[in-house]
Amino acid sequence: MNEDSIVDLESRHSAGVYQKMPVVIEKGAGALVWDINGKEYIDCMGGYGVALVGHCNSKVVSAVKNQSEKLITCHGSFFNSARAELLEKLSRITPQGLDVAYLCNSGAEANEFAIKVARKHAGKKEIVAFTGSFHGKTIGAVSLTWNKKYREPFEPLLPRVKFSRFGDMESVKDAINKDTAAIIVEPVQGESGVHIPPPSFLKTLREICDENDILLIFDEIQTGFGRTGKMWAAEHWGVEPDIMTVAKGMAGGIPIGAAISSKEVMSSLKVGEHTSTFGGNPLACAAASAAIDYIVDNNLPSAAEKKGAILHGELEKIRGDHEAVREVRGLGLMIGMEMRFEIREILQKCLERGVILLYSGKNIIRFLPPLVIQEEQMQKVISVLKQSLPLIRDH
Ligand SMILES: Cc1ncc(COP(=O)(O)O)c(C=O)c1O
Repeated sequence: MNEDSIVDLESRHSAGVYQKMPVVIEKGAGALVWDINGKEYIDCMGGYGVALVGHCNSKVVSAVKNQSEKLITCHGSFFNSARAELLEKLSRITPQGLDVAYLCNSGAEANEFAIKVARKHAGKKEIVAFTGSFHGKTIGAVSLTWNKKYREPFEPLLPRVKFSRFGDMESVKDAINKDTAAIIVEPVQGESGVHIPPPSFLKTLREICDENDILLIFDEIQTGFGRTGKMWAAEHWGVEPDIMTVAKGMAGGIPIGAAISSKEVMSSLKVGEHTSTFGGNPLACAAASAAIDYIVDNNLPSAAEKKGAILHGELEKIRGDHEAVREVRGLGLMIGMEMRFEIREILQKCLERGVILLYSGKNIIRFLPPLVIQEEQMQKVISVLKQSLPLIRDH
């Protein structure tokens, strides 16, 4: 199929809910992808932060090949070795005590589960989320998502959700009451433009939750598995949640998600109260085991920390030279570069020059590259970005 017919068919027959880039991607390897014309791109979007272990990671590829020849589907009502292996592996890298997981297929689904188990366990109804939050677009998850453009067209949503100001403990204290079941927070906010909370924020949240019998949910869907330079972003502040949700790069690009908690919290759900046909699918589990092994064996969290420091430093230098850059912020390889104007043209220019970048809102460039990105590739990203900035200096 040629480029034009692919674009035409997708445009005619898909729901049309994605903001499309004018490129047909054909294949990928590590931090690189190629389009249908053979043009190479450095992928700093990484499938929205999914390609942690790189595109078509060889360990993930062979795990998927092997598993696909053995068994592709196995409902959760049966036991399966690929699933057992993943659950055990996951329990070895999650915070102590959080050694029970519900496996599903996406981040939003993991958060849906978290909402249900938190309410059931607490026997209370209210949930506190934050300004700037993003937890997904299914009805429950979008109810906890701050941006009105995602919520308002679909009201009425989940009732009894309150939003506190991210980073502001007083606003949390105002929001909670005796019917608050849970507080959900991204340890570093992603969609709103890479926002790091004030140093004591998560610790104080933990204390408030303990004092008031409220469950603390960390959405580590974008930050987890090494992205920020630690296995879990919350480790930067030494805080552990009661429930943690993960997804994105957990299975090297195969769809998966998980809500992870303690036996005590999980046991509040009765058999059948929450299941999914594909949850714990053997193919996804085999891919996830391979991806987790790769992350651990190659110490990708530490790689993200080191590479992130280099990329951050280079972006800071650009900020020094360009008034157009307001701020560079981030942790590990999760970095936002806030500009003083809309960035659409910059992203377009970078794309033309072989670098895929991501946006957060209209004026923040977001970097979520594979953690296996090489230093030369980061240097190329920087040089392409520099070339693309002066063109729009006059804005
Ligand atoms: C922090 C966070 N939570 C939840 C989600 C939703 O995940 P999914 O798109 O897999 O439903 C995302 C996706 O970007 C996210 O960044």
